[in-house]
Amino acid sequence: MTESTTGTSATSNGKPKLEEAQSTADILVGFVTMSILFTIIIGVALFFLIGSIQSPSKVGLFVVLPYYTYTMFLRRDELKDGNHWHHFSQNFFVLNIFRRYLRLEIQKPIPPQVLALDSQDKAQVLLAVFPHGSNSDYRVAMDGILHEALPILAEKVRTLTASSLFRVPLAREIALWTGCVDASRKVAERQFDQGRSILVLPGGEQEQIRTQNGRELVYVDKRKGFIKLALRKNVPVVPVYVFGASDLYHTSNAAFGLRLALVKNLGVAIPLTAGKCGFPLCPVNVKTTIVFGTPIEMKCKEPGKPTDEEVQAKHKEFVMALEKLFDDNKTALGYGDRKLDIM
Ligand SMILES: *[C@@H]1O[C@H](CO)[C@@H](O)[C@H](O)[C@H]1NC(C)=O
Repeated sequence: MTESTTGTSATSNGKPKLEEAQSTADILVGFVTMSILFTIIIGVALFFLIGSIQSPSKVGLFVVLPYYTYTMFLRRDELKDGNHWHHFSQNFFVLNIFRRYLRLEIQKPIPPQVLALDSQDKAQVLLAVFPHGSNSDYRVAMDGILHEALPILAEKVRTLTASSLFRVPLAREIALWTGCVDASRKVAERQFDQGRSILVLPGGEQEQIRTQNGRELVYVDKRKGFIKLALRKNVPVVPVYVFGASDLYHTSNAAFGLRLALVKNLGVAIPLTAGKCGFPLCPVNVKTTIVFGTPIEMKCKEPGKPTDEEVQAKHKEFVMALEKLFDDNKTALGYGDRKLDIM
């Protein structure tokens, strides 16, 4: 692979710099590799599903049953401490290819207040990342570079992930190895109680289903749980905005009402998306930049017991900080013509 050449940091007309120079080899290798990876994941899931219907005595008994017995009864890593495999997250060649394809990077300089946290062995943090995007696949690639930017914190970060993902074979393993645990309150509290930090995409499926290519939208007004958790545990919250995440897929609004009802009632998100060249299984190679804000202190009067007013006030402070983070950085990153939609 050849080194990609970096273009200028912003275009004059404020349009996202989608066309920034990137080597054709990186694009091609990325496209092929990501498509193969997603195809394998879907293939394995279909093999589990169709195999256990068509041949319960073989696939069902000897593959599906042992897998779920082991993962869902014997291990249950996602409900405990996860199974973060740092070497995989940082070095697995597919993730490296994915990072090159997205030109994924953490914007430098990282705010000194965040770096100061990283220099303390016992520091904890809650990284609140927006937006979720059509498919938070960039998150898998992000974990590895977090280690470069914040080596001490990243060693102990767990990402909260929807329970359903842990039931999909292979997706489960990739999630666990890149630091995911179940997104329940009990599991989240456990991470903080054991001295770890948390990364969460508070917008979740609501934000996912609302993602529109070309629009920056965050679903945060009703998401106060992460603020309450941070207040209870007295852990600072760092707003993080990922430029590019909204544009990784072409999106459609078809049957939005029905799909929203599915999210609300069943917790199932069905994004209607197309990626590179219209192919659904590989994102478009939009440059993706992770921008850190400054930590917001989460202290309450009575330690561990935030009042509703305190939660409201801190939530408001967070949303304002997130909007400022977006506005202060959008022009330099080529998103000057966009406005952050907060709902
Ligand atoms: C990005 O936003 C933060 C928070 O508002 C600000 O402190 C920082 O200077 C911005 N970065 C750039 C490169 O403008």
